[in-house]
Amino acid sequence: MSTAIPELSTFDEQELDQAFAALTAEVQDQAKLLTNEEAIEAFRLNWLGRKQGRLGQISAAWLKSAPVEAKKSLGMRFNKLKTLVEEQRAATGDPETRAIGALDVTLPGTTRRIGAEHPLIKTMAEIVSVFQRMGYSVGLGPEVENDFNNFESLNFPPNHPARDTQDTIFIAGQESKPQRDRLLLRTHTSPVQTRAMEKHRPPIRVVAPGKVHRSDTPDASHSPIFHQVEGLAVDTNITFSDLKGTLDHAMKELFGSDVKTRFFPSFFPFTEPSADVQVTCFKCGGKGCRLCKMSGWIELLGCGMVNPKVLAFHKDNGYDPEKVSGFAFGMGVERIAMLKYGIDDIQLFFHGDVRFLEQFA
Ligand code: PHE
Repeated sequence: MSTAIPELSTFDEQELDQAFAALTAEVQDQAKLLTNEEAIEAFRLNWLGRKQGRLGQISAAWLKSAPVEAKKSLGMRFNKLKTLVEEQRAATGDPETRAIGALDVTLPGTTRRIGAEHPLIKTMAEIVSVFQRMGYSVGLGPEVENDFNNFESLNFPPNHPARDTQDTIFIAGQESKPQRDRLLLRTHTSPVQTRAMEKHRPPIRVVAPGKVHRSDTPDASHSPIFHQVEGLAVDTNITFSDLKGTLDHAMKELFGSDVKTRFFPSFFPFTEPSADVQVTCFKCGGKGCRLCKMSGWIELLGCGMVNPKVLAFHKDNGYDPEKVSGFAFGMGVERIAMLKYGIDDIQLFFHGDVRFLEQFA
């Protein structure tokens, strides 16, 4: 693109007409070539650029040296040229209306690819809706939690060895606070149980989906960030049979009506008794295969009857362990999604590779 500014001598109408007609033709010729981002940017720099821009140079060279009586006429022409440059540039704004020469309405349209739910979010929503259909409401809590909600209120006393099982990421620099107020990244969604019982009197039925964090080295089955769906039901006369029936139904909804469940003794400080729930392997139907490590069963979640010590923290809000009882459960969303869709590496959820993600759209 040319950068020369012709010299004007008389600044009379004829000279100005000629000079601006040449510039206008130049703008119009260049505007026809604005079919890609580089050309548009070069056009912008050539005319409007702060240092090299020709409009700036013209204004500096001509407006300043023009005799007073020519300034008005020159200024009007200059403004017209500037408007033309800006109009041409604005016309390139939408890449779809940018056309070579003219707009060809017979060309196929530009289709926009629509996004889709991430497989984890989809699985999480599916789990939540299974429980919503059973009358559960949805509760949420923050990812940055305090020690009381994440541990103490769930019957992990300070220094209790059960805390070691939850490789906790602590927020630094809080040594001056009492331990229960110190912040950490929640290691499970169970603190939402505490938040729910503080806020609502029994009876309560709530599920809490969300992101949790543990200090884990990533590999095919571990990720320092993962997701859980927590559940809590407290009412009069809730028994272990209610827990079994609820989770058996939920697993059938999620994996198909022919899966069977079984409950194995386990330990969590906030449930007593506690259990791990296993479902029959949906790949081999229970015969034994690589997925279920030849056992025929797959371990899916933790659960148990709410420990009376946990209820007692909320006694003043109606959770008298002598009067009400309940159950709780927590399941890993990644694990369920991996089993549902046959995904063998948890990292795939977090890489954001469209080739992986679009398979679930
Ligand atoms: N919070 C437990 C975990 O993350 C799971 C759980 C939830 C167990 C509720 C029992 C009851 O391992």
